[in-house]
Amino acid sequence: MSNLKSGVPETPYRIGIASDHGGYELRQYLIAMLHGAGHEVVEFGNSQFQKDDDYPDFVIPLARAVAHGDVQRGVAICGSGVGAAVAANKVVGARACLIHDSFSAHQGVEDDNLNTLCLGGRVIGHSLAWEIVQIFLAARFSGAERHSRRLSKVLELEQTR
Ligand code: RB5
Repeated sequence: MSNLKSGVPETPYRIGIASDHGGYELRQYLIAMLHGAGHEVVEFGNSQFQKDDDYPDFVIPLARAVAHGDVQRGVAICGSGVGAAVAANKVVGARACLIHDSFSAHQGVEDDNLNTLCLGGRVIGHSLAWEIVQIFLAARFSGAERHSRRLSKVLELEQTR
């Protein structure tokens, strides 16, 4: 588990992060926090604030990078986090979820092997978002038989696409 007292997960990560205009401010904050915690951050845009940009343009490349293993985990942010989750989950190999609570942030990884955390920049405060990111990064898939079995049923569905 992470050393949440110091705010630094034990393992530095290569983390991909993406947002549209609705998540731009939160994304900038999280990038600074991730760098401060010693992680490598790969940015998928939007590199500037554009009020009419579209989250799939940034979230889909991020989800592909997660699925291909170019980054270890992804953080995708839009206004609500909903569009980001919908878009990311269309990419085979991405397992994304909108999460705004600490329990799901670790349980989603431990049980469901979540690899992409989605956040709503217009919904959640910066401090809680950072806490959730740290919990998400510190969590590991348990590999328990029942969870592997359930996940394999999801992965099987992906193979039929
Ligand atoms: C864009 O205004 C907004 O719809 C988008 O950021 C996101 O909330 C979609 O789910």
